[in-house]
Amino acid sequence: MRRLLRRQFGDPILRQKANGVPPQLLKTRALRRLTDRMFFTLRRVGGVGLAAPQIGKSLQLAVIEIKRTPVRPRVTPLPPTVIANPRILKRSNAVALDWEGCLSLPNVRGLVPRHDRIMVQYFDYLGERRTVRLKGFQARVFQHEIDHHNGILFVDRMLDMKSLMTVREFRQRILTKKGLMSR
Ligand code: NI
Repeated sequence: MRRLLRRQFGDPILRQKANGVPPQLLKTRALRRLTDRMFFTLRRVGGVGLAAPQIGKSLQLAVIEIKRTPVRPRVTPLPPTVIANPRILKRSNAVALDWEGCLSLPNVRGLVPRHDRIMVQYFDYLGERRTVRLKGFQARVFQHEIDHHNGILFVDRMLDMKSLMTVREFRQRILTKKGLMSR
């Protein structure tokens, strides 16, 4: 399998509202092949989520997979999950601030506020409608990917651009301080 080409900021597709996934596309082999390649690409680059506009497809579709890593030792893992036409039904008033990166904004990290808890409805890879309640990092990742369906990048959500930094600075200044330094 080959990696999908990832679009980077500046590409207009990342700023457009994505089209809904047509119901007749759900459960098809074509969609399955696409999401398989999206998971393959996501794993190769070590990400937790990838939305279709990021690979040049204007679709309200994303793949998410969360694993614990040395840098994220305490997150609640999430098995490979396909979300189509997701809608956030409820949002907590409580907001958490944490670091984010994005495969479409290579090499930078920034502090982003996100609702701590959300209730989301979406169609899964079997075309089944699902409603889930999420919190913490899982809620953060869903909000980040759903933003991609609306042409929003994490930097748009930042309250203070002074926290924007390169991955090198992030590793030296933030991860080391947390005792999470890797390589
Ligand atoms: Ni992203």
